[in-house]
Amino acid sequence: PRVLILAGGLSHEREVSLRSGRRVAEVLREAGCEVTITDVDDRLLETLRSGQVDVVWPLLHGVSGEDGAVRDVLELVGVPYVGSDPAACRLSWDKSVAKSVATEAGLSAPRFVALPHGIFRELGANRVLASIVERLGLPLVVKPARGGSALGASAVRQEESLPRAMVDCFAYGDVALVEQRISGTEVAVTVLDTGDGPIALPPVEIVPDSGFYDFDARYIAGATEFFCPARLTPEVSEAVKAAALAAHRAFGLRHVSRTDLIVDPSGQPWFLEVNVAPGMTETSLLPMSIEAAGLAPAEVYRRLVEKAL
Ligand code: DAL
Ligand code: MG
Repeated sequence: PRVLILAGGLSHEREVSLRSGRRVAEVLREAGCEVTITDVDDRLLETLRSGQVDVVWPLLHGVSGEDGAVRDVLELVGVPYVGSDPAACRLSWDKSVAKSVATEAGLSAPRFVALPHGIFRELGANRVLASIVERLGLPLVVKPARGGSALGASAVRQEESLPRAMVDCFAYGDVALVEQRISGTEVAVTVLDTGDGPIALPPVEIVPDSGFYDFDARYIAGATEFFCPARLTPEVSEAVKAAALAAHRAFGLRHVSRTDLIVDPSGQPWFLEVNVAPGMTETSLLPMSIEAAGLAPAEVYRRLVEKAL
């Protein structure tokens, strides 16, 4: 099939998306697909309508890619695409919405508050900051409610660090999500559906040298140690896989997703978020879990494309 990969875009994760796009293109070509990569610009409609494209794979991370906007266009034009539909993307994209959905689906999620920037002006920064700590305690994680790759995200151990964390966060988005930091093991679980229903791949355990899985820890080779499969007991491993499958189904996701969780010392998984366009760069988690499952990425990607057709 002729595959059009959408990569780049104007989000903060543009560079990551370009890397994901190049990597998936390489792998799909190995699998015998004809692949073109394009950015999203005013010629997109023309390209989609040209009759030269059998299926689109949107590998745009962040705004417009993961919020459903570009997929709305694909739906309008009627071109098949790999991945979830716009409505499911919207549920997943805003982390505060996503946590409500996950909680309704029976998962545990860290307690949080979502704070639009305007609230600080309205109520005064000191009052807002004090009430966050009063309600959630410490330590905390601050991140943009809508964003990815940990851009604008930080861990906050002391109250004095909170204002700086908020400023960093608002540089990337106008709603901040502040959540309790659960201590434990960070894991990511890829769910694939290439034909016979969704299956969870082996969880990847993430151990960043710096202690926090920030942008550099994600994309500088060697900055993070990964264990795949994660060093969990068989029971806990099954529990995190079940949580990811439950999220995939509850959000109505299609073909592929990655759920990020923390496993606390008692073995309880805590839902952090679900990704509809997980990173697919050389250092990303999804390809690691495919290999750990004993699958060949070329085969898996080709099957995803065929499933979408
Ligand atoms: N937002 C990045 C691409 C990820 O989830 O892998
Ligand atoms: Mg994400």
